[in-house]
Amino acid sequence: MADSTAKLTMGAQDVDLSVRSGTLGPDVVDIGALYKKTGTFTYDPGFTSTASCESKITFIDGDEGVLLHRGYPIDQLAEQGDFLEVCYLLLYGELPTATQKQDFDYRVTRHTMVHEQMSRFFTGFRRDAHPMAVMCGCVGALSAFYHDSTDITDPHQRMVASMRMVAKMPTLAAMAYKYHIGQPFVYPKNDLDYASNFLHMCFAVPCEEYEPNPVLSRAMDRIFILHADHEQNASTSTVRLAGSSGANPFACIAAGIACLWGPAHGGANEAALNMLSEIGSVERIPEFVARAKDKDDPFRLMGFGHRVYKNYDPRAKIMQKTTHEVLGELGIKDDPLLDVAMELERIALTDDYFIEKKLYPNIDFYSGITLKALGFPTTMFTVLFALARTVGWIAQWSEMIEDPNQKIGRPRQLYTGSPQRDYVPMDKR
Ligand code: CMC
Repeated sequence: MADSTAKLTMGAQDVDLSVRSGTLGPDVVDIGALYKKTGTFTYDPGFTSTASCESKITFIDGDEGVLLHRGYPIDQLAEQGDFLEVCYLLLYGELPTATQKQDFDYRVTRHTMVHEQMSRFFTGFRRDAHPMAVMCGCVGALSAFYHDSTDITDPHQRMVASMRMVAKMPTLAAMAYKYHIGQPFVYPKNDLDYASNFLHMCFAVPCEEYEPNPVLSRAMDRIFILHADHEQNASTSTVRLAGSSGANPFACIAAGIACLWGPAHGGANEAALNMLSEIGSVERIPEFVARAKDKDDPFRLMGFGHRVYKNYDPRAKIMQKTTHEVLGELGIKDDPLLDVAMELERIALTDDYFIEKKLYPNIDFYSGITLKALGFPTTMFTVLFALARTVGWIAQWSEMIEDPNQKIGRPRQLYTGSPQRDYVPMDKR
């Protein structure tokens, strides 16, 4: 549906391009026919001005600091909903009724176990492997275990694959953690809610009882909600691009996990906590702030800045509150990392460099402190992000597969290499 027209003048040629409006957010100029009409491509490395798809799932207004899932603000979902309710919303488009929620919870819960052979797969890795390396391998391997849900043309198989992914990610993430620290795997316990079950699989041991703390379970659940989806970020775009070729969903999610691992994306929570530890004390903050501002120093303040948010990340506000709740529950009164974080945030929010460049704390700034307090080592932080983001990846992947106009993603390029030349025999070079 074309809402208006944009005129592009190229030399003597005028080209009309349709401009489309969404429900919210900037209009888009549809350049799909540009090459056919003019023989030129558009150039936008990093996609800073390019909408790669049409979507009904998540909306972000980066200037205002707004994040909506299916129209619902993230703070309302995080404070009033639970993670599986948000999963349902992302996957099906509406909040569930009580019966739908009960049925959904039941279906997810019945898929929490992984094929027993998977445990042998884990033991093929070195114990000191990074858990994200293990996750890339093990999630990719799911397609070798669940052949009956890899036919992407069958809606039933797609639904089963979605349930499996949401249900099995906590089990796989907990197994990656247990393997990492040399403890036996703990099977899922289906009478526990999603977050409590995950904490149980991570922190229970066969030799003593483990009682999940409801305050910590609620915090874990909220962390999952805050990471559930974030429209067309790098890992989601990776999942969509991988899926556009018809690859099965398990392989696509493994591709998303690989992309998420980078420190500019999901790896930032690990990097942010490492940075806070490196700073160590409030007195050293000015030195690091000066380094972040120095053009000749590649150092950046991890957990600050965002491609889309040019305002306070709405997720960071809720995360900060959750951090205080967790530290309060655990009786951690003086956490030096929290002192460094609070002071760093205060300084950065009043510093001209950060104000001018609109660099605000993002979700990763506070999530690391909370996850550390919950008992996770830094190497697990990005794994937890991947666990939570899986539902977003799956919802976006399903939306793409169900789109009748879906095509394989195939960007073009501006070639700046050598023009055609003739092969030179080795003795003449
Ligand atoms: N510390 C210091 N300076 C920064 C920072 C930072 N964290 N982030 C951006 N800048 C500066 C940057 O040097 C550039 O300055 P100039 O215009 O003078 O060259 C300007 O701000 C714009 O930066 P950019 O790299 O062009 O912006 P981008 O949109 O390409 O990058 C980002 C966004 C998130 C990769 C970047 O802000 C960053 O590296 N932040 C630290 C890593 C981080 O916290 N990532 C988590 C993102 S949120 C979770 C997720 O989505 O996974």
